Amino acid sequence: MLAKALPPGSVVAVIGSGAMGAGIAQVVAAAGYAVKLFDTRIGAADGAIAQIGAIYARLVEKSRMGAAEAGAARARLRRVDSLKDIADAALVVEAIVENLEVKRMLFAELEGVVGDDCILATNTSSIPVTAIAARLMRPGRLVGMHFFNPVPLMALVEVISGLATDPAVAATVFATAAAWGKEPVHARSTPGFIVNRVARPFYAEALRLLSEQAADAATLDAIMRQAGGFRMGPFELMDLIGNDVNFAVTCSVFEAFYGDPRFTPSVLQREMVDAGFLGRKSGRGFYRYADNAPPQPSQEPPCARPGSVGMTMAAGARAALAAPLERRLVAAGFALGEHTPLPADADGAPAFHCGGAALFLTDGRSATVRAAATGHADTVLYDWFEGDARRIALARADQCGQAAWAAVVGMLQAAGFAVSRIDDAPGMLVMRTVAMLANEAADAVHQGVCSAEAVDLAMQKGVNYPRGPLAWAAHIGLDYVVGVLDKLAASYGEQRYRVSPLLRRQVAAAR
Ligand code: NAI
Repeated sequence: MLAKALPPGSVVAVIGSGAMGAGIAQVVAAAGYAVKLFDTRIGAADGAIAQIGAIYARLVEKSRMGAAEAGAARARLRRVDSLKDIADAALVVEAIVENLEVKRMLFAELEGVVGDDCILATNTSSIPVTAIAARLMRPGRLVGMHFFNPVPLMALVEVISGLATDPAVAATVFATAAAWGKEPVHARSTPGFIVNRVARPFYAEALRLLSEQAADAATLDAIMRQAGGFRMGPFELMDLIGNDVNFAVTCSVFEAFYGDPRFTPSVLQREMVDAGFLGRKSGRGFYRYADNAPPQPSQEPPCARPGSVGMTMAAGARAALAAPLERRLVAAGFALGEHTPLPADADGAPAFHCGGAALFLTDGRSATVRAAATGHADTVLYDWFEGDARRIALARADQCGQAAWAAVVGMLQAAGFAVSRIDDAPGMLVMRTVAMLANEAADAVHQGVCSAEAVDLAMQKGVNYPRGPLAWAAHIGLDYVVGVLDKLAASYGEQRYRVSPLLRRQVAAAR
């Protein structure tokens, strides 16, 4: 729906001037709107305005804002001491305490103050917009406007419609967020909205691998950053967010979906919270912040470059899967001669061969299971990596010999990778995480939460993922990703890895 943004100069009231309210006020005033800040805590609104003024001043120093522009933006910020003073607001953005009853009371009071056309928006991160609106006289004017922290830096705004939200109101808020320089997406009010739901596997799969002792936190983080291309690893991000906050979000999504095993919280993370190991804010989480020397990721010692490397090719799309590693090996000067097929190649997956080892991209089975299936003991698997990755994760079959393993490590080191071994966990780390992110994204689309474009944009702009999960799965190959999930489900025997009906359908349609 095409809708106009509220015009610059309109009055936007921001209720609550804590971390989020202050960030929202900063952005809105800079975009040319008159901001009225209200907070029940004495001094909070003034403090926020002073803090925003200081930020504008720093932006001027760095030439990222003109001095006149900063002065004008600062002059558009006003503290108000009573809700009655916001009667002229065209839009109210609420960013107070995360409590349904308190928010309901605030909006009921606001309805008695503002004009009939005023739009009411809540920045709630977890309370259903439908529930907040339920007791309003005009529930159609209430919409979710979910910003991400820190607001000035994170572009995403989820525009959340509850059951009663007027589509025209959601469209106006969408256009207004865009006018503020944000990247809005539409979403329905469902547990976790888009980002807090679709991001769960980013933490959950890493937590599971840590619980299963696949590798330590520093190694898993390094793989996600340096192979997966994520800006932060899951453990350093959980430590930054706070394990208590992250665990609470997981629990709230899990409960809101009536215990769907897809969202089962981690026993390990629960223990971290119980211990008070909350992350940076408590000095200890998955890492200890007092330590001068943070733990380094484990990696294999240097191994000799093997003399020759061969490849058995597969046809079509499966060959494309091997192309990224093939390119890296060719660039490192390996001739990659056609290899006589080994029993290991029986299932038709492309393989790299050196020193007797067969190296495959993980397909959701463990290396040990694949070695047993083909009878080729010296089987090694590599995890998904993004094109110019500095690190690669490997898993070796329990049956694999040391010489074959060393040949694979030497080959990959020669191709410029730091090699991190993780235990032989099905689906490894990056592949398993990407498959589960895409699965969750597909379910959100399947259940009408948002469009495919919206979920991909949301994960890039709300949590900085290097690719949207659905585009990422398409890049790897949807049928391959579905195969990974099916094999994970078979390995663990859990509903957690069940495939989204939408992914299944898209794979069938493409055949
Ligand atoms: P905060 O605790 O930093 O700020 C809340 C402010 O609201 C405080 O200054 C408090 O005095 C004020 N307040 C409380 N009750 C009030 C009332 N009845 N009327 C007026 N002011 C009142 O909290 P934060 O982090 O800014 O969160 C605010 C809202 O934004 C919550 O609903 C939260 O779930 C949501 N949110 C928070 C994110 C985050 O990362 N912190 C991200 C996205 C949404």
